[in-house]
Amino acid sequence: MANAIETRGLDVGYGGRQAAVKVLSGLDLNVEAGSFLSILGPSGCGKSTLLRVVADLLDPLGGTISVLGDTPHAVRSRRDVGFVFQDSTLLPWRTVRDNVRLPLGVGQVSLTRSIEDRSDELLELMGLAGFGERLPHQLSGGQRQRVAIARALLGQPKLLLMDEPFGALDEITRDRLNDELLTLWRRTGTTILFVTHSIAEAAYLGERVIVLAANPGRLAKDIDMRPFKQDGNRCSREDPAIVAAMAELRTALERAS
Ligand SMILES: Nc1ncnc2c1ncn2[C@@H]1O[C@H](COP(=O)(O)OP(=O)(O)O)[C@@H](O)[C@H]1O
Ligand SMILES: [Mg+2]
Repeated sequence: MANAIETRGLDVGYGGRQAAVKVLSGLDLNVEAGSFLSILGPSGCGKSTLLRVVADLLDPLGGTISVLGDTPHAVRSRRDVGFVFQDSTLLPWRTVRDNVRLPLGVGQVSLTRSIEDRSDELLELMGLAGFGERLPHQLSGGQRQRVAIARALLGQPKLLLMDEPFGALDEITRDRLNDELLTLWRRTGTTILFVTHSIAEAAYLGERVIVLAANPGRLAKDIDMRPFKQDGNRCSREDPAIVAAMAELRTALERAS
């Protein structure tokens, strides 16, 4: 299968080419198209930075990166990439429905019927049917993150970048959204890069889990989770194989910190 992402010797830092801060160094990473990749790593190791380069929000200092067989810039111009952050900001004065339609410029262009239908469809898919006219402050934290996901999916992105999207949620809500995300991933075939602090979440969601080490950021561990999972990437959180994989990830993470 083709790769959605390929990096070779990728160097990334801040402050230009003479950068004092080098965050990622010589990163070689292939991500299979349609796969679900979880990314773990100590705080500050460059997880968000990696997503920023993929999303064309930051230029690399060296090496190469190809996204969907193209440059990050071309992919962003085509709106083939969606982004969900931990504290995805919704516009407080816009309704839920308008927040979902935001990427397409609410109030600037007249929306086509199909986009209107699609935003309602996405709200339904995310369990928010009937919430379209509410304002963000009338939603729970979990519901707000669902709106952010619906918004990221509006353009039918081939690639979805998620940076600790459920980090601020309680565990029950997080588990529920994890299951919804897996269902959604199977339905859409979107490639997902999912950054999390939670080893359990990374292991439960990912077909593959990588651990990045810090200073400078590099690949410290790479586990294929598919042998431990059923059809559709399903598994039980208590499955001994999953628990063993989590222990391995924990060790790698401790060493990487
Ligand atoms: N805009 C920036 N300017 C300078 N340094 C930054 C900037 N953003 C992040 N960094 C630094 O880059 C490193 C990696 O940050 P980040 O990718 O956010 O880490 P992570 O997401 O893994 O916690 C950190 O040391 C951080 O301080
Ligand atoms: Mg981060």
